[in-house]
Amino acid sequence: MPPGRASATLVVMLSSDSPRITRTGPTQMHLAEVLVGRPRRIASRLRHHGTASMPTADRAPYRELVRRDLAEYASRIDLDGLVRRHGSPLLVLDTDRVTTQLLALRHELPDVGIHFATGALPHPAAISAIDAFGASFSVASRCEIDLLERAGVSISRCLHNHPMTSIADITGAYLRGIRTFVVDSESEVAKFRGLPEVAVLVRLAFPTRGERSPSFGVRPEDAPALVAHCLHVGLRVAGFTFDVGSQTVSAAPWQRAIRRTLALIRDLEERHAIRFEMLDLGGGLPVDYDEPVPTLAELARSIREELAVAPRHLQIVIEPGRFVVAPAATLVTRVVGTADRPDGRWHYLDEGVHGAFSSLGTEGAHPLVFAASELTAQPATDGPADRATRRRRARGHVPVTLAGPTCDSADVIARRVALPPLDDGDLLVSPMMGAYTAATSCNGLAPTPFVVIPG
Ligand SMILES: Cc1ncc(COP(=O)(O)O)c(C=O)c1O
Repeated sequence: MPPGRASATLVVMLSSDSPRITRTGPTQMHLAEVLVGRPRRIASRLRHHGTASMPTADRAPYRELVRRDLAEYASRIDLDGLVRRHGSPLLVLDTDRVTTQLLALRHELPDVGIHFATGALPHPAAISAIDAFGASFSVASRCEIDLLERAGVSISRCLHNHPMTSIADITGAYLRGIRTFVVDSESEVAKFRGLPEVAVLVRLAFPTRGERSPSFGVRPEDAPALVAHCLHVGLRVAGFTFDVGSQTVSAAPWQRAIRRTLALIRDLEERHAIRFEMLDLGGGLPVDYDEPVPTLAELARSIREELAVAPRHLQIVIEPGRFVVAPAATLVTRVVGTADRPDGRWHYLDEGVHGAFSSLGTEGAHPLVFAASELTAQPATDGPADRATRRRRARGHVPVTLAGPTCDSADVIARRVALPPLDDGDLLVSPMMGAYTAATSCNGLAPTPFVVIPG
């Protein structure tokens, strides 16, 4: 294990009165895990910056708003104490925040079934919170099914959403209870031969962000032939699915995809005298990283409007990943080395793009980074004195490059980030680090430990 990594594989729950060990041994992600009891319930659960609504007049800059939320949160969960006990780097996973996001989804899309995209955060604590909420899961790999099974999730309620899977994986998923799979080509259809009760969703491709050829999905104009082929070989087609792309910040792609898919459904139901059962809207709901994105309420309103003409017999489901878990984890990293290069000062951290920053910059995900020292002194209002303090403080900030711990020139987290002067040993904190962080890390480094705050 590389130096600087917390090494425990012990799950401990600290209630507000006394610590107690609840479980030992490595987890699915072999993370050091510590459950930390919440001393008191969060009164303002919907206030963390993923869902905050603030008056626009006199608004502080976005980074400042996030800093205030984070400062308040860090003191509430005693982030300093957690780092003292568990070291750095550390992902602090707050399962209450998972539940908060699910509540918001259920509120905004009340008639839409939720299948959490397990790959966004395949962590037992997140899975248990989602299961306890009553949502289901979509899976794309054998490991994900293993994890869900260990967490006691009812596998038969899950969807298998990967349209390109080996026969072994399909059979394994089938034997463990999955009955709904996704196909996007004739070659996949043959893999379901001999598996009774299977139904498939046909994955449609709606190219996004200038993509010439999306990795997955059949073009809507080619879908009728694929549906006809399924029916010809006796494979039941439950309906359709699509994915508009992760971190989609406008409702338009969903609106277009829903409209086109509903037209296809009407046409094929009439042509084949059948009834489809399901329309799966995929993932893609965005969260606020370095800038605010449209709120869930705004996006959901447009989605609901488009769905208003869907046939009543269609069950509508959604497969959110990022939206559900990104706000639930906060990353703490430490400066391990500093150098002055021709382009300015570089700080090397104990976490980088081969760890929790693995999906950095892809899909519009640019997490903010704060020096821990910024989370202490904090003007809470926007009076003239506070604005002056903020300006004074900002003048002390210097642009630096943040790099990860590996000897890899690509291991650069951010360039020209304005931060207060940092020394080796200083801590940095990033919110919104729950989705595609530890889950997608690699390169031989030990996985980033989590600390879990149970709901
Ligand atoms: C088919 C499918 N559904 C859902 C998701 C989850 O997407 P997001 O995390 O953007 O909500 C993905 C992500 O890759 C996906 O491929």
